[in-house]
Amino acid sequence: MTDTVNPMAGRFSGQTALITGGGRGIGQEVALRLAAEGARLTIFDMNLEGAEETCARVKNAGGDARAWKVDVTSRDAVASAVKSAAAQFGGIDVLVNNAGIGWRIPFLDITDADWSKIIGTNLTSCFIVGQEVARVMVTKKHGRIVNVASINAHIGTDHQAAYAASKGGIVALTRVMAFELAPLGICVNAVSPGPIETALSAMNLTPVTRRAREERIPQGRLGKPGELAAAIAFLASPDASYINGTVLVVDGGLVSGGIREPKVPG
Ligand SMILES: NC(=O)c1ccc[n+]([C@@H]2O[C@H](COP(=O)([O-])OP(=O)(O)OC[C@H]3O[C@@H](n4cnc5c(N)ncnc54)[C@H](O)[C@@H]3O)[C@@H](O)[C@H]2O)c1
Repeated sequence: MTDTVNPMAGRFSGQTALITGGGRGIGQEVALRLAAEGARLTIFDMNLEGAEETCARVKNAGGDARAWKVDVTSRDAVASAVKSAAAQFGGIDVLVNNAGIGWRIPFLDITDADWSKIIGTNLTSCFIVGQEVARVMVTKKHGRIVNVASINAHIGTDHQAAYAASKGGIVALTRVMAFELAPLGICVNAVSPGPIETALSAMNLTPVTRRAREERIPQGRLGKPGELAAAIAFLASPDASYINGTVLVVDGGLVSGGIREPKVPG
């Protein structure tokens, strides 16, 4: 992704976008993409340094962005930051609920603390931030929300029970939000990424598990953050004006794939 911003051009010209977890990885790539298409940005991240780095890249390229140190699981912190961000930019047009965590734990070993932390960060944050931002969006009867789920919402994988439950919850929450908020001018969709090359996936993949994934993915490789950012930007843009309550799977064909027949010699 090139850091070139032309605020006068693009699908988000004149719009403000809030991205959670925009301090690195997929969230940072989404921020750069939306800014390149004209959006002013608000970045919420617990990692203020990362969020500020994203904003600096946007500003260096001629865009407008502001970083906030916000824990997206905290109702008070989110409510106050959303209020200030909306006042500063005159509203919020786009929300990307991207902040997330996950690590591999065998089902029999998951503690209550692991469960609450993963469900809270991934799923409850979509409820809290989604609700606070939707309350701002309804004042203009306009808004687009994209929630970041995962292919773990759609297929069974080992050692990911809390993560998969959180992402399945996001898919269900997306549908209900879309149903309820459509009459108020707000569209809500989700993306379900497959394995994407980020720090989070690097932490969870050994060379062996990585190779095993690549072999199962019909396109034969992990996705790039920019490829996911393009899908999120589409769902957040006016190009997706009649798409609501859906889940766009971005996984190189992994979820839709079946068993590949082994090559028979000769
Ligand atoms: N990377 C993948 O392969 C992959 C696959 C499927 C889904 N996803 C999802 O995409 C999203 C982004 O993943 P990533 O790989 O870029 O992760 P990442 O770890 O690189 O970035 C996540 C960001 O979220 C922030 N964050 C975490 N908890 C937070 C909290 N409580 N409050 C505020 N900010 C918080 C982190 O500081 C970080 O900047 C996540 O929701 C993840 O579950 C990723």
